Amino acid sequence: MINILFVCLGNICRSPSGEGVFKSLVESEGLEDKFFIDSAGTSAYHVGEPADRRMRKHAERRSIRLTSRSRRFIRQDFDKFDYILAMDGSNYDDILSIDKTGENRAKVFMMTDFSSIYKNRDVPDPYYGGDDGFEEVLDLLEESCRGLLDAVKKKYGF
Ligand code: 4NP
Repeated sequence: MINILFVCLGNICRSPSGEGVFKSLVESEGLEDKFFIDSAGTSAYHVGEPADRRMRKHAERRSIRLTSRSRRFIRQDFDKFDYILAMDGSNYDDILSIDKTGENRAKVFMMTDFSSIYKNRDVPDPYYGGDDGFEEVLDLLEESCRGLLDAVKKKYGF
């Protein structure tokens, strides 16, 4: 099993979408039995809530259903997951601040590290913006998740 965790601030917009987009890609290739896929937030602002209604609406237009409930990223996630994908630089720093010894550094990535066209960009927080922001999140995630799946397949040889 390859364990993949998407992380943002609230775990109601970007990381549930990363989870949904990646699950959809994995299902389209019949690889469900190879992956455990989850998401979490660095804050506890929205713990227990479903994904933001606007985010769900935009995702559904692309046939992606978001079913997660918000939970907070915890230290034990470092043991459970092989790839931890941060949506922006501040999520990345917050994740690593919990890793006091630095031993988990190599499994923490920026989401766009896996994109050929959006590399070095944050997946911007859409929460206080309009429709365009939610569409941009999905564009960045679809491209980056494609790259992530290809990288994992190459690394594990399937
Ligand atoms: P997310 O978006 O990190 O992509 O889930 C946000 C959701 C809520 C808040 C910030 C970002 N908030 O401040 O409540």
